Amino acid sequence: MPATVVIGAQWGDEGKGKITDTLSEAADMVVRYQGGNNAGHTIVVGEERFALTLIPSGVLYPQVTPVIGNGCVVDPAVLLDEMAALAERGIDPSRVRVSGNSHLIMPYHRKLDAVMERFLGRQQIGTTKRGIGPAYMDKFSRNGIRMQDLFDPKIFEQKLDIALKDKNRQLVKVYNQLEMDPAPILEEYLGYAEKLHGHITDTSLLVWEAIRDGKNVIFEGAQGTLLDIDHGTYPFVTSSNPTAGGACTGTGIGPGAIDDVLGVVKAYISRVGSGPFPTELEDEIGERMVEIGGEFGTVTGRRRRCGWLDAVALRYSVRVNGLTKIAFTKLDVLSHFETIKVAVAYDSLDQRYDEFPRQQRVLYNCVPVYEELPGWNTDISGVTSFDELPKEARQYVEYVEELAGVPIATVSVGPSRAATLQRG
Ligand code: GDP
Ligand code: IMO
Ligand code: MG
Repeated sequence: MPATVVIGAQWGDEGKGKITDTLSEAADMVVRYQGGNNAGHTIVVGEERFALTLIPSGVLYPQVTPVIGNGCVVDPAVLLDEMAALAERGIDPSRVRVSGNSHLIMPYHRKLDAVMERFLGRQQIGTTKRGIGPAYMDKFSRNGIRMQDLFDPKIFEQKLDIALKDKNRQLVKVYNQLEMDPAPILEEYLGYAEKLHGHITDTSLLVWEAIRDGKNVIFEGAQGTLLDIDHGTYPFVTSSNPTAGGACTGTGIGPGAIDDVLGVVKAYISRVGSGPFPTELEDEIGERMVEIGGEFGTVTGRRRRCGWLDAVALRYSVRVNGLTKIAFTKLDVLSHFETIKVAVAYDSLDQRYDEFPRQQRVLYNCVPVYEELPGWNTDISGVTSFDELPKEARQYVEYVEELAGVPIATVSVGPSRAATLQRG
């Protein structure tokens, strides 16, 4: 393992939480490097279900130090609630470490996220409305307020004043909203300082020391490759870099320290929110994927759009992340289909695309070229080794592996830890 980046290879919700949790048994540290509480990572342990949004999935193992890196945006109320909820379930949150350089999600970010979306009308992105985009906007326009500012009340107040003057102009003049008053925000946020004090540290140093000492460190991505601000289907993306490179900038670790990049790939695809999706199925098959796969958002409860696996997008993901291996999830969901399709290219106008198209408009009007494989029509959720899988299921995995050009190291056939098949 030593340093492994776990990324979502599609549009999110591939099962990163489950895979990270499974790997965490042998980990010393699990680090989130981007995103915030727009993520929803589900872990099932026996009868219990944990839905984590901000705290890394490794938290369920007592030997793991969960770290929230500088690349994340943190809503302190959500972080404290999540820690309290874990404590109530017997999991010690005192180990959680948060970068002083991570940016704070402020009440005006949530407000702006909601009104900006409303103003976009039919063009809206379908964000999670957690304030993620506006918080990153402030980070990059250098108006952000960082976690470390909470511990310097004077500076915090000054920064809040400057930021809120600007936000209030936007809220009132552009979005026709009421002004926000700084006083209650100041009081609320300075109240978090005391509660979070023991958790804030130089996480870049902490992670570096762990790697230097030969500890097993997992970098847990949120969202997915096609939601990446640079490499995804812009503007229908999130405002950070979920791709593997983000693990370096989002934690302060150099690329040379990374040993493996594990892509989590769902056996079909889902997408929440707007944006192009060439293999989307707006028919009964897509509906069955939603039902059987339980494809409703962990964070917002929204129905996820579903469709067949897209090998064009998968190869793109292999490339932009430098994947060294794949964890293939939710194979059990496909047990209920007569045949399984995989898109191997796109046709658009007079052209065939084997590579992910450079121009996004192609994604809207292309017709996927499908290969069709036989289904297995057998429940595989109780299978305990890869060799026990029906021949057709193994064939499907091997076919995807060949298309991806990267070994599928793990196959997941259910939400639980036990339903995880290791190969080779
Ligand atoms: P993440 O955001 O990538 O962590 O994925 P989510 O947790 O949002 O969504 C994945 C969902 O599928 C969760 O409800 C998991 O419990 C569930 N899940 C994960 N792996 C499997 C699997 O192999 N089979 C089935 N049936 N469910 C799975
Ligand atoms: P996990 O980590 C799936 C989507 C939103 C929207 C777009 C922008 O659970 O895989 P944002 O609130 O980030 O500004 O919304 O990104 N999105 C996700 N989709 N899984 C996620 O996280 C997502 N996080 C954001 O639906 O389309
Ligand atoms: Mg999710």
